[in-house]
Amino acid sequence: MNIRVIYQDITKIGRIADAIVNAANETLSGGGGVDGAIHRAAGPLLLEECRTLNGCKPGEAKATKAYSLDNKYIIHTVGPRYYSDPNPSLTLYNCYINCLKLADELGLESIAFPSISTGAFGYPIKEAVKICCQALHDYKPKTLKNIYLCIYPDINNLRVFEEAFKI
Ligand code: APR
Repeated sequence: MNIRVIYQDITKIGRIADAIVNAANETLSGGGGVDGAIHRAAGPLLLEECRTLNGCKPGEAKATKAYSLDNKYIIHTVGPRYYSDPNPSLTLYNCYINCLKLADELGLESIAFPSISTGAFGYPIKEAVKICCQALHDYKPKTLKNIYLCIYPDINNLRVFEEAFKI
């Protein structure tokens, strides 16, 4: 798998990513940060479909259509709340792995991730990037070829990801 770290609003990556990943919460009813940006860009039909999914557990992943976004799917995952999850590193690892697995099940060739849990959920960026690295290293892809890590808007987060993934 090719892995690229890019400074990019994930809602504007366009069709180079078959799927974009949403850093959601268990209700899948929208929120701030990436969640808010994706729901605003996709439009109200996204929330209607999310309401049929019966929520999402931390570490799991569920797919919806992308509606007004240029992508084929949005893959919603719920990261760990760093200060209350009993095992935040395992939950975060599972987020990345389960999004990759779901993208392969859908036969996708490319997926874009935000920096899951490092905003409202408080995961320290350096630790979170190590978990992301480990998951992408461990995963054996089927159809997936291109992974984009869309880091935005925090330049410090970008530097940490670039350092960790320097090819
Ligand atoms: N594109 C890419 N990355 C973004 C964007 C965007 N448009 N907007 C924010 N980010 C970055 C944040 O700067 C942060 O580094 O995504 C990372 C994840 O931050 P959050 O969106 O706060 O997600 P998270 O920490 O996983 O918390 C999820 O926040 O928005 C609510 O409903 C959501 O309850 C859930 C919680």
